[in-house]
Amino acid sequence: MTLHPSIGTSSAGVEQPWWQTAVIYQIYPRSFQDGNGDGIGDLEGIIERLDYLAGDSSDSLGIDAIWISPFFPSPMADFGYDVSNYRDVDPTFGDLETFDRLVDAAHRRGIRVIIDYVPNHTSDLHRWFTDSRSSRNSEKRDWYIWRDAQSDGSLPNNWGSPFGGPAWTLDPTTGQYFLHQFLPEQPELNWRNPKVERAMFDVLRFWLDRGVDGFRMDVIGMIIKDAELRDNPPNPEAPVDLPVNDIFGRQRRLHNEDQDGVHDVLRRMRLVLDEYDGICGIGELGYSLERWVRYYGDDDELHLPFNFRLMEQPWDAAAIRTSVEALEAALPAEAWPTYVLGTHDQSRLASRIGTAQARIAGMLLLTLRGTPTLYQGDELGMENGVVPTDRLRDPQGLRLGPARSRDPVRTPMPWDTGPFAGFSAVEPWLPITEDYETRNVAVQAGEPVSLLNLYRALLRYRRDTPALLSGSYETFPAPGGCFAYVRRHESGDRLVALNFTSEPLHLDTQTMRGSIALSTHRDRGGSFVESFSLRPDEGVILEVES
Ligand code: NOJ
Ligand code: CA
Repeated sequence: MTLHPSIGTSSAGVEQPWWQTAVIYQIYPRSFQDGNGDGIGDLEGIIERLDYLAGDSSDSLGIDAIWISPFFPSPMADFGYDVSNYRDVDPTFGDLETFDRLVDAAHRRGIRVIIDYVPNHTSDLHRWFTDSRSSRNSEKRDWYIWRDAQSDGSLPNNWGSPFGGPAWTLDPTTGQYFLHQFLPEQPELNWRNPKVERAMFDVLRFWLDRGVDGFRMDVIGMIIKDAELRDNPPNPEAPVDLPVNDIFGRQRRLHNEDQDGVHDVLRRMRLVLDEYDGICGIGELGYSLERWVRYYGDDDELHLPFNFRLMEQPWDAAAIRTSVEALEAALPAEAWPTYVLGTHDQSRLASRIGTAQARIAGMLLLTLRGTPTLYQGDELGMENGVVPTDRLRDPQGLRLGPARSRDPVRTPMPWDTGPFAGFSAVEPWLPITEDYETRNVAVQAGEPVSLLNLYRALLRYRRDTPALLSGSYETFPAPGGCFAYVRRHESGDRLVALNFTSEPLHLDTQTMRGSIALSTHRDRGGSFVESFSLRPDEGVILEVES
């Protein structure tokens, strides 16, 4: 199989860039597959497992692109989100030669490669920072954000870190504070300095020259801060039970992120991406819909600003429907939607909504209009791992308490019932999930109705169905507890009906007669219906008869 061109022509004759019809699969490389037996996943391991993801084999999952979380040289204070060299591979994960082989092997299977880009902060061991902190006269001093204490001796401003504590640390050598909205080991670059912008744009070109197809840009909305670094106001709606050191959680983030100036940088960044063919820029950011939608620019900023809203809703048909409708209404015509239901930072999907509803979530994610991103292991219904206190690794959990630890969603991928679940030959860096003997790839591959086989079927169906790839979205009237929508396309419409409850529900399909293409229960398909009942926790795709 060869890589399809960057602009594909769908069966309807509509030209669409690859990233609009693609399903993206997030790989957290430390936990995907260990290739060299040290207990930590690596790039060689990803190469070994590519056939699982896509390729000619009919039992491949059938995704179109992988996004690999950071694998660059790093002291691993934040497991790679503290980069000490943007142009290499950390020896834990391999080397540049392995990376090149990975890109090649992925492309041969038709898989695009998206990598993480961490522009807001470097590691404190990056040579830019060691130089910057060495003297107030350093040529790199202004590459980071240095400030004196205020006249009363207090910190330069009141900003906090999502990892707990203030966003400023005093550097005794030069007597000034540096800004770090994450760990003190993650000092923030000063993107108002054109030299920083130039150097970081060259990082993009370095990887584009190696053949990557896109970037997922870490906390991209934070790279420009208020020019005067003004204090953030308190947030009256903040939960009352936050840990004492969660200053960040108690503030309205008015001045530390989402500043207008970030859009100027993003427009220039887009020009860099556009120097190459068919590159996709994805941004990690939140914000209100009105603020968020600006990150598409006039089709000249990000291609896909991540949309985490479905993870933030209660798991309830009305809430999910409202969120989808609001998104659809907010998008300008040329902006393409995108949805995420799991990441390496949030509780596991199946732990949040239960294993029965995880099937509904899979059908939802793969049938809404837009580009879905699937987090590794969610196709198996992996739950939050149990990580004993003495094995806690995540700095967020270590600083804000185990309840805030992200370790449970980063436990190794369970491949089979063998030692260490086939992930590694030795005890892995985080414990294997307790249910790995029953919940793993090999076992689920052999069970026709497993979640893994549902994902495979949905992915296959999606790839062959223009209405799901590019059809319009329309909410379909449904009883409480059910979320239904139609994806309209000239080659044939599809009705998707999802039962968010554990009670049966009757759906009056009115004019929508047709045959059932796929049920999340995997036990009915092909039958013609004029109206139908959804069983508890069942979702159905109906091929509408015109
Ligand atoms: C967001 C990343 O997803 C998260 O894992 C990381 O800790 C922060 N950004 C800081 O880079
Ligand atoms: Ca390894």
